[in-house]
Amino acid sequence: MTNRILPTLTLLLISLFAHAGGGMWLPLLLENLNEEEMQAMGMEITAEDIYSINEGSLKDAIVHFGGFCTGEVVSDQGLVLTNHHCGFGAIQDHSTLENNYLQDGFWAMDGSEELPNPGLFVTFIVSIDDVTSQILAGVTDQMSEKERARTIQANTTALKLGGELGAFEEVLVKPFYEGNRYYAFRTKTYNDVRLVGAPPSSIGKFGADTDNWEWPRHTGDFSLFRIYTAPDGSPADYDEANVPMRPKRHLEVSTAGIDPGDFSMIFGFPGTTEQYLPAVAMEQRTEIINPIRIGMRDLSLAVIDSAMRADEQIRIDYASKQARIANAWKKWRGESQGVEAVGAVAHRRQMERDFAERLAAKPSAQEKYGALIPELNRLYTDRLELEKTRAYVGELNYNIDLFRLANILDAQFAIADNNGMDAFRQRSERLLTYLQGIYDGYSPAVDKKVARALLPEYYEKLPSQYQAAYALDQREFAGGYDELIDDLFDRSYLTRGDRVLDMLAADPEAFVETIRADRAFQFVRQLNRLNESRVVDVYNEYADRINGLQRTYMDGLLRFFPERRLYPDANGTLRVSYGKFEGFTGLEGNTYDYMTYLDGVMEKYVPGDYEFDVPERLIELHEERDYGPYATEVGKMPVCLLGSNHTTGGNSGSPALNGKGQLVGLNFDRTWQSTMSDVYYDPTICRNIMVDIRYILFLIDKFGQAPHLVEEMTLIN
Ligand code: ARG
Ligand code: ASP
Repeated sequence: MTNRILPTLTLLLISLFAHAGGGMWLPLLLENLNEEEMQAMGMEITAEDIYSINEGSLKDAIVHFGGFCTGEVVSDQGLVLTNHHCGFGAIQDHSTLENNYLQDGFWAMDGSEELPNPGLFVTFIVSIDDVTSQILAGVTDQMSEKERARTIQANTTALKLGGELGAFEEVLVKPFYEGNRYYAFRTKTYNDVRLVGAPPSSIGKFGADTDNWEWPRHTGDFSLFRIYTAPDGSPADYDEANVPMRPKRHLEVSTAGIDPGDFSMIFGFPGTTEQYLPAVAMEQRTEIINPIRIGMRDLSLAVIDSAMRADEQIRIDYASKQARIANAWKKWRGESQGVEAVGAVAHRRQMERDFAERLAAKPSAQEKYGALIPELNRLYTDRLELEKTRAYVGELNYNIDLFRLANILDAQFAIADNNGMDAFRQRSERLLTYLQGIYDGYSPAVDKKVARALLPEYYEKLPSQYQAAYALDQREFAGGYDELIDDLFDRSYLTRGDRVLDMLAADPEAFVETIRADRAFQFVRQLNRLNESRVVDVYNEYADRINGLQRTYMDGLLRFFPERRLYPDANGTLRVSYGKFEGFTGLEGNTYDYMTYLDGVMEKYVPGDYEFDVPERLIELHEERDYGPYATEVGKMPVCLLGSNHTTGGNSGSPALNGKGQLVGLNFDRTWQSTMSDVYYDPTICRNIMVDIRYILFLIDKFGQAPHLVEEMTLIN
């Protein structure tokens, strides 16, 4: 390629990119679809450097962290970097009023101080293969959704039986493009993952809910773990004799800093997006369903927040639960606002008109695609009441722990029914550990207030044909909700964790019998059973038909718009997003810079505040500008970064890489309204938020006084 065409081509590619907007790409397709554009935008490495089946590549340093976040290996001794909010559960589990690592932070000074976390694991991707033809063999357009699912299931089983797997290896087969393609992921999982370091929450969660999903941001959202293996280097369950992992690959860390406009890349495990939702469904989600869920969480959060403020122990116990509930609650508000502000529903309607137009030019395709959009409109519209019910019931089951417990046990008891008491007994030890986790820090008093706030919503806002009557017997509760809820909470075993755990440990059979007769258990079971028969079954029939149509629609989009590079929705598999480090101009006209500094932390500082307090030592380091080698050229300490990479939940902890493929930051969030990128990516305002690696290094080295951890890494200036 001569130098004269290069600039034109670059322009062309960049305009294409602006048009497409966003994207979460499969690593093995980068070479064909994206490499040219990525290099034109400033990437200096190749697609093969990112993902290679034969050679070590960047992908060998990326892990799915606990199945819910991303992490990356940053040393040749298995050191893993992820977010503070991803390690939060582990940090919380090791915290007590005396040793409060949530509050004070934690730094292991050597291997003997690194803390094991039962149940926590990390998964590497060994290889990715296109298995579409094997998985769809024998599938026809004429099949019902059920027949189709059966054929795919059988093909998947056959495919898995065909390959040899090592210990702790697995093959996951996942649908892409709504089931038009299938890819198989060979994985390797490590179950001994130990906590190595975390800043205090006043740094790792600085700004808490007020700043969550916001920019400018000043959160040091990181924590450190280490993968351990058997002495021979193979994956192993926790064992004292295990040793730090010798990874195939670890990321280099760049302390050189970034300029606005620099190429950026995020490599991780985005969870779920719905980029191809029809306009009607997008409108329902953002105008009706989100508001229902938000309303329910307004109520439960009011209860939990006031309990946490009033009691230090509850504050530790409920920290993680509160963060989980509040995080989605705020996200839904931003998503609905973003969709409205950029007119995403209208854009989506336009796309449907474009589809109809292309289709009109292809008479032979009429039969397959002609009725699609009107039919999707009709099905989504008819299903709306069921969707609302699902939202209400879902929020009851999610927010009220008593409900959660009853549901878990109900599902476990089904094992006893279907496979016999022995099968249940065999699993009872695992169940015990699991329940222990839920009861650890459970407050029946707080939970009861949550139920008191939420149950009346369900009864009063939902049409009666969809709800369970005051279960048991409505006439018993002349005293209304208070009497009902007293009855549920005060007379149930399920609110008494120690009794439940003792019973289960002593005699699983008697346990099943006693709990089955428990009033709260019966109430929740009846509510959910009624919901299943009145809502879920019918809902699923709709879902089958909608999924089938969505698949055909996607197939049509791929066929009719070959010039648009369409990326598959996120589905928890390894993806690459890329863009630039850049600020943005908000919908209200304000412009925002791409970087924040420690000075900004001090500006937000409110002594003693539960969200904006700052540790004494950080104030001192700031006053003395004692930043070690980690400050910018002008002597400032960078804190967070903004970029135009398409990300979603699950991308937390993902490495932010520069054009050389070196680690320059850690992804952890998005700006508020840009959370609409889950259904519609708008390149002008959608931004992801990262913590600058230099802030992380400074916090480990100067603040945490754990320089040995930085020394393990490969720093490049
Ligand atoms: N919004 C980010 C994400 O979805 C960070 C959440 C953690 N922080 C919190 N306050 N809940 O995961
Ligand atoms: N904070 C999210 C996560 O935990 C990332 C996002 O939704 O932008 O994965």
